Amino acid sequence: MCGIVAYVGPKQAYPILIKGLKRLEYRGYDSAGIAIFNGGIKVFKKKGKVQALEAFAQEAPKDSTIGIGHTRWATHGAPDDINAHPHTSGNGRITLVHNGIIENYALLKAALEKEGHIFKSETDTEVLVHLIEEVQNRDGLPLEEAVRVAMARVVGAYAIVVLDREDPDKLVAARKASPLVIGVGEGEFFLASDATPIIEHTKTVVYLNDEEIAVVRRSGQMQIKTIDNEVQAPHIHELDMKIEMLEKGGFDFFMLKEIYEQPVTIADCMRGRVNAEEGFVRLGGLEDHINRIIRAKRFIVAACGTSWHSGLIGEYLFEDLARIPVEVEYASELRYRNPIITEKDVVIAISQSGETADTLAALELAKEKGAMIYGIVNAVGSSIARITDAGSYIHAGPEIGVASTKAFTGQVTLLTMMALVLAERKGTISKSYFQQLISELALIPKKVQKVLEYDEQIKYIASEIKDSHNALYLGRGYNFPVALEGALKLKEISYIHAEGYPAAEMKHGPIALIDEQMPVIVIATNKSAYDKIASNIQEVKARKGMVIAVVTEGDSVISKMADYVIQIPDTEEPLTPLLSVIPLQLLSYHIAVMRGCNVDQPRNLAKSVTVE
Ligand code: G6P
Repeated sequence: MCGIVAYVGPKQAYPILIKGLKRLEYRGYDSAGIAIFNGGIKVFKKKGKVQALEAFAQEAPKDSTIGIGHTRWATHGAPDDINAHPHTSGNGRITLVHNGIIENYALLKAALEKEGHIFKSETDTEVLVHLIEEVQNRDGLPLEEAVRVAMARVVGAYAIVVLDREDPDKLVAARKASPLVIGVGEGEFFLASDATPIIEHTKTVVYLNDEEIAVVRRSGQMQIKTIDNEVQAPHIHELDMKIEMLEKGGFDFFMLKEIYEQPVTIADCMRGRVNAEEGFVRLGGLEDHINRIIRAKRFIVAACGTSWHSGLIGEYLFEDLARIPVEVEYASELRYRNPIITEKDVVIAISQSGETADTLAALELAKEKGAMIYGIVNAVGSSIARITDAGSYIHAGPEIGVASTKAFTGQVTLLTMMALVLAERKGTISKSYFQQLISELALIPKKVQKVLEYDEQIKYIASEIKDSHNALYLGRGYNFPVALEGALKLKEISYIHAEGYPAAEMKHGPIALIDEQMPVIVIATNKSAYDKIASNIQEVKARKGMVIAVVTEGDSVISKMADYVIQIPDTEEPLTPLLSVIPLQLLSYHIAVMRGCNVDQPRNLAKSVTVE
């Protein structure tokens, strides 16, 4: 959370910073700010979105060629103008933007206050700028050295970029546990929390590693050192991303574009990996470590949010198809509860951004305990992708809407492929069933397309329930995690309280809530539990609840019981989540739009949660 961007080179910095901040806005939108050098450092910062900053910063010197910018997701201190970044040192010499959390900020602040530093904001970030100033003044060090010495005293997570009034031809950056990418152009550098602000300027990037400090200069020089003062050779990467991926392409919101991209993103996830004609599934990352993975005593999935829901589907897949015991853990719980993890376990990290702080920390713990770490990640080159022992990208392309959609189906597709590879190797499913599943999997993109064609009907249902205060989502088996995901989608973007439940558990609590005001969305596609779900629906109807049923095309029984019906094409049961989640994504989207919500940037949320 929080996005940072910076530029030094021959071009005007202002438009680069503003555009970059708009690209990073998904990381937080409580306030935005920039600092640019034009004889002195000029800071403009404003509560609210980047648009508010633009209106406020009309007077910003447009011919400056160096600057830093920030979009904030508030942690320490209210989301207001004063707490907005950039923050400036007491003597006004240095200005800084920061993404992360400084855990020992209170101690540092008290020590600095004793030295006479006066703080203006309530942020942890302001401590950094004063600390660097203190080191700079005390030891007479150049900025990069002062940053290095200062950061060695800091506990917590940071990606920072610092601008020095006395040397306005360079920027100094440092990172630990928060991402920072350096775009390398012709005599120019772009620094950002991810590659999205960089891609339209250059495809050549360097990912800064933990505890590294980088200095980039207008002359085109770049130097990287560790916090222990060892010079590092930069590793150059080429980005594989197109600018169209970062634009709405005619859709009103990124979320809708991303929902509609799913036939393509699921196909991209399977490209070169699934071959239905020749009857094989191959995953490079898995093949290289297959023996260790097959011998694993158990899989532990560590993830957060929507990625945790796809992990739950992974549990059903691995246990059902490959007979491997699985535990699915919230990364935030796993890391703090003294878990039993051994070298016989494989820990599977699932993360869209590859930067989620809790997931990263859980992996570090699992690594210490000797487990093998497998990553299922979307963002190429992200921190999680880089610390895992092996892994597979889902290739969904940048996901910008805060509510995850195409990353979820990408993760489930990847987990399905993994389960199939392992099931085949272990011989836990018959050859004919294996072949049947691959053939069906290859058809999923077309079937998702078919679900999307029911969008108008889903929009109509949305209009009927948009004013509800609560909603209940029910599913069984493979569709229970889909019920959780449907409820999460609704609450995060429309602010309607929603709960997902295993259908049979309804009678142990949620049934008390059901009345004619309560829409109950039932995923009723499971052949194996059809009658049981039909009974659950009767229980809801008996209490006058309004039932919206997601059924298989051609369904005749449940369709007659429900108030509204959404059909999805038939498929093999383990693959149904890939289809049944699509109408739930669309339903939430339309409800949120009808309620006037900002679908892509829901209140209080951020896409990349780089703090605990
Ligand atoms: C945030 C996002 C969710 C996401 C979760 C985990 O809450 O808003 O969409 O599922 O973080 O993020 P990750 O990047 O690790 O999948």
